[in-house]
Amino acid sequence: METSPTLEVLNQHVTIRSFTDENIPGQLLTQILEAGRRSPTSSNMQAYSIIVVRDQDVKRQLAILAGNQKYVETCPVFLAFCADLNRLKSACALHDAEMTNNLETFLISTIDASLVGMSVQTGAESMGLGAVMIGAMRNHPRKVAELLGLPLHVYVAFGMCLGWPDKDNIPPQKPRLPAELVIHQEKYDMSNPKSKIEAHNNALAQHYTNMGKNLDGAAWSGVIARNLSRPLRPNLKATLEEMGLNISGTGE
Ligand SMILES: Cc1cc2nc3c(=O)[nH]c(=O)nc-3n(C[C@H](O)[C@H](O)[C@H](O)COP(=O)(O)O)c2cc1C
Repeated sequence: METSPTLEVLNQHVTIRSFTDENIPGQLLTQILEAGRRSPTSSNMQAYSIIVVRDQDVKRQLAILAGNQKYVETCPVFLAFCADLNRLKSACALHDAEMTNNLETFLISTIDASLVGMSVQTGAESMGLGAVMIGAMRNHPRKVAELLGLPLHVYVAFGMCLGWPDKDNIPPQKPRLPAELVIHQEKYDMSNPKSKIEAHNNALAQHYTNMGKNLDGAAWSGVIARNLSRPLRPNLKATLEEMGLNISGTGE
C-alpha cells in the first residue's frame, strides 16, 4: 500500500507529556511555525496569533492556571494559540469601518487558531519533537490573557507544550473509536451501536492496564458520562464576552 511521510507522521501521533531538558533551537521553531502558517484560513482572514513563551516564570504561572499541569512548566517552549479579532478590527479601521463581531467571527477565529495549531503539532512531530495541546488555557481565560498581554478581542483557544520527548516516557498510542462510528458513508448513521462503544471501552481499558493504570470497562464512555453530566466551564461564555468576543449577539 502506498504511503507518504505526512501520513506516517500522522499515523504515529501520540501526545507527549514528558520532555528532556534540551532546548528547541530558534531556527527550528521558526521553520515549524512558518510551515504551520501555511494552513488554510477562513476568507484569508488569518484570525489567529501565536504567543511563543520560553520564560520560565511565565510558564510556571501558566501551568498553575492550567490546573497544575506540570509539563506546561517543564517544556522548553509553550505556544499559546489565540483566536484573534484584534488585528481584523485594525484592518477595518484602515477603511473607516467598524468591525462587527458575532458567533461567526468567534468561530472563524477559533477554527483558524485550531488549524494552525494542528499543522504546527504535525510539523513539530515530523521533526522528532513531541507535543501536548492544553485546552485548560480556558480555565482562567482572563488571567491567561493578562499574563500574555492580550488585547481586547483575543483569547487563548488552547496552548501547546513543545519539547524533545523523554524516550523513557513515550506512551503507547491511545486506541481510537472504531472507524465505523466516526466515518459515515454518504449519510449520518445514527445507530451508534452499544456493542461498538463497549468494544472501545475494553480496548481503552486494556491500553491503560498495559500502562499500569487501573480503569474499569467503561474507560471511554464512563469518563464522557462523568465529564458531560455537568456543564463544562459554565462561566466561559460570559468571560469571553467581557474580553470582546461577541458570542451571543448578532453583531449589529
Ligand atoms: C484541544 C485539545 C486540548 C487538550 N487539552 C489537554 C490538556 O489540557 N491537558 C492534557 O494533558 N492533554 C490535553 N489534550 C490532549 C488529549 O488528552 C489527547 O490528545 C487525547 O487524550 C488523545 O491522546 P493522543 O493524542 O495521545 O492520541 C488536549 C487535546 C486537544 C485536541
